[in-house]
Amino acid sequence: MLSEETVQEIRAAMKRYPRQRSAVLDTLRAVQRQFGYCKPEALPEAAEILGIDANALQMLVTFYDMLYDEPVGEHILMPCKNIACFLRGSDQIIEHICDRLKIKPGETTPDGKFTLQPMECLAACDLAPMMIADETYYGNLTNEKVDELLDKLAASDTHREVAEEVGSGHGNV
Ligand code: FES
Repeated sequence: MLSEETVQEIRAAMKRYPRQRSAVLDTLRAVQRQFGYCKPEALPEAAEILGIDANALQMLVTFYDMLYDEPVGEHILMPCKNIACFLRGSDQIIEHICDRLKIKPGETTPDGKFTLQPMECLAACDLAPMMIADETYYGNLTNEKVDELLDKLAASDTHREVAEEVGSGHGNV
């Protein structure tokens, strides 16, 4: 079930740590990259490579907000809603995204393009109001910047192209 690329990613991550099992999060991110979420059926194979119990991987998926155990949108929008961003208008940014995509926080658009997942502080308060779209930071957001980003994400097959065009803050997660 795991692609050769995913298996290689996991093995490469295992070499980066003194204890191979420390590569659990890298492993889950590799699985999520392949399937778009941490497909439960793929976890036993990943766990076997790591030499750990598959239940441990499953527990991590349910613990972390950025790991998904069911399919989500092609693009994940994570606007920060915490204090620094809130003071600079993140509530209006989130409302604008909701209006624009016709979804509520936590929902996915019917075409499967976008999931809106507001987050607590994303450790980029200097960019407030900011969000992570897929794995790239975008800061000093305005409704116009959000519109530009959503247009480009909707039209693009690869998020990387968009990050280069729109310009981002701190770069990739
Ligand atoms: S409060 Fe938004 S990044 Fe910290």
